[in-house]
Amino acid sequence: MKYLITGGAGFIGLKLTKELLKNYRNKVYIIDSLINNSENKKLSNVLKNKKVKLIKKDLNHISSLKIYDFDYIFHFAAVLGVKNVIDNPYTTLKENILSTISLINFSKKQKKLKKICFASTSEVYAYSLKSKLVKYPTPENIDFLISKDFNPRTSYLLSKVVGEYLMNYSGLNFVIFRPHNIFGPQMGFRHVIPQLTKKILQYSKNKIIIQNAKHKRTFCDINFAIDLILRISHSKNSRNSTFNIGSPDNEISIIDLAQKIKKILNSKKKLISSNIKKFNSPEKRKPDMKRSLRYSKIKHNFEKGLKETVMWYKEYYTK
Ligand SMILES: NC(=O)c1ccc[n+]([C@@H]2O[C@H](COP(=O)([O-])OP(=O)(O)OC[C@H]3O[C@@H](n4cnc5c(N)ncnc54)[C@H](O)[C@@H]3O)[C@@H](O)[C@H]2O)c1
Repeated sequence: MKYLITGGAGFIGLKLTKELLKNYRNKVYIIDSLINNSENKKLSNVLKNKKVKLIKKDLNHISSLKIYDFDYIFHFAAVLGVKNVIDNPYTTLKENILSTISLINFSKKQKKLKKICFASTSEVYAYSLKSKLVKYPTPENIDFLISKDFNPRTSYLLSKVVGEYLMNYSGLNFVIFRPHNIFGPQMGFRHVIPQLTKKILQYSKNKIIIQNAKHKRTFCDINFAIDLILRISHSKNSRNSTFNIGSPDNEISIIDLAQKIKKILNSKKKLISSNIKKFNSPEKRKPDMKRSLRYSKIKHNFEKGLKETVMWYKEYYTK
């Protein structure tokens, strides 16, 4: 089968590419502007495989591409990252919507497309949760609430909500994924697990302040997420539906996560909880996984994934 993965040089897209290449009959095309990934060793290794091709392009400039025989299109490219989004809300909203429209136009020219699979986000639930308007853990079939305050962080979730609507109105067969805190080696440096690892390893002081310490999350190992994404995408039953992609485990507070990382690193530093709220971050986030788990065939292993990830970052930060 022939796959197109936008944002395929990124964390989730590249892992998906590697998984698809395990089947020698598959061909994978990646479209990525490489804005975040100009020097990615893992990408260069994957590109050694003749069954994968990188098209280094911004999604807004793909109208000249003359390939019409993709079976599946995965849309992972997006402007993201909390700080980046807060600093650039206009660009986030505009680019994410325009690039999705550009990809939908390209997808409509495809002759045998089975599905377009769109990565939305868990953030779409943020305001509905804050206003206590939805069940918790959050199921997929709820109404969205958008804040009146034009907080810059909203630009990202709004661009994803519009993306979901575009998928629904496009006339294409689609699947929507709402990923919740996916983690693994090479996830980038802006997420909580790499940042806590760096703090514990590199801060010269013996006391480390942990921000948003009481906030709670479930963290989903990338291997579990990829398995779910592939099974759901390939199933006939998933057509035109939306799925949470996350961990089915219990929540963990950020301070408890930091303690686990400290233990893996064998550190003696003291962790101090701080309640200073940073980046208007949601206090809790946990997906209802009932719908997605019907497709699952492997067990989620948070502890194993966390150890592998922390050790990967340890090697990176101390080399
Ligand atoms: N990682 C998570 O936990 C998580 C959570 C919620 C949602 N998501 C969504 O999943 C998707 C993948 O996330 P990720 O963590 O792999 O992100 P990532 O930043 O690692 O990868 C995104 C890739 O998209 C590329 N890109 C961005 N804009 C582009 C454009 N206009 N044209 C071409 N390429 C472009 C970047 O160069 C990058 O390689 C994103 O859409 C994100 O919003 C991820």
